[in-house]
Amino acid sequence: MNNGIGVGAKQGADSNQQSPFLSKIGEILENALDELKAARDLSGLENRFKFFCGKKGKLTEILHLIYSLSPEEKKNIGSKANEVKKQIKVFYQNKKNELLEAGKIGLPKKHKLDLTVPGAYIEKFHKHPITAVLEEAVDFFSSMGFEIAEGPEIETTYYNFDALNIPSNHPARDVWDTFYLLNGLVPRTHTSSVQVRTMEKKSPPFRVIAPGRCYRYEAVDATHLFMFNQMEGLFVDKNVRLTDLKGILEETVKYLLGAKKTRFRPAFYPFVEPGLDLDIECVFCGGRGCGICKNTGWIEVIPCGMVHPNVFKYAKIDPNEYRGFAFGMGFDRIVMLKYNINDLRFLYQGNLDVLSQF
Ligand code: PHE
Repeated sequence: MNNGIGVGAKQGADSNQQSPFLSKIGEILENALDELKAARDLSGLENRFKFFCGKKGKLTEILHLIYSLSPEEKKNIGSKANEVKKQIKVFYQNKKNELLEAGKIGLPKKHKLDLTVPGAYIEKFHKHPITAVLEEAVDFFSSMGFEIAEGPEIETTYYNFDALNIPSNHPARDVWDTFYLLNGLVPRTHTSSVQVRTMEKKSPPFRVIAPGRCYRYEAVDATHLFMFNQMEGLFVDKNVRLTDLKGILEETVKYLLGAKKTRFRPAFYPFVEPGLDLDIECVFCGGRGCGICKNTGWIEVIPCGMVHPNVFKYAKIDPNEYRGFAFGMGFDRIVMLKYNINDLRFLYQGNLDVLSQF
């Protein structure tokens, strides 16, 4: 065995020549400092410290190997070993303090992966019922060739009233009473304001729907809000008839609400002639009469009618050449009926106890 520190190896008497034991001790010091420095946690640090300085550690090992050397050499090597042990110990102590400190403030510790820990519960979310039903309705109308049209929520009185055949002195303006802004604009009171805007942009024939928010001067209660959603529909072509309106709207309430029985009643809206309201049999009492349908057995869902010739004139479309029908669904009402919600305010409070039920 010729590793230079073999048991009983006689060391040369030449004191200038570095003893292999001394150089081995130097090597231990170097390795020990490197390894202690690299320790990432307390148990790793402890383990490395014992490896070099413990009872059966590398330094003690050396002391066991030098029994055959001269007393002077033994003393020399022994004291060098003790000195190195002290150095390593100081380094170990400092590193230990550093790791304890890091542990306190949560700095890098060895990452432990525990595969038995149960997974974190992730709440499932879904679309708001208004958005969900709106998307359903948009799909339904798209399948019949309707495109989406848009208009501003803050509207001129021209598009909100005048162009819809409601002049400024007409009592019908009271029906759509709203907040007037100081600059004369209005938060639109209905999506019908998109009608003339669309007719100005598109040349017939066309079919559009215009979903969006509307505003009115209302005291808030279970069935009224100052802000709500509507969906306008407008179909303009050469030969559009009342029967087209009836067919499409009956299909709509069947599709969206599963309505079985419907009826049309005459109604007045200045921008249609004739004007109608589409009712469905009350979904709450099955037509027998209840508080919600005010004992009539019917619920009004879609106001509608044939586009008034004056509206076409405002839009510079010739009423002798084209005809059209329009409707304006109270969209929140459709959602309430679909999900059996009896208070409109629930749809806008953002209350998760309510919304998570859909
Ligand atoms: N805009 C009307 C309203 O808000 C509804 C409507 C739209 C009626 C289109 C007829 C045609 O009350």
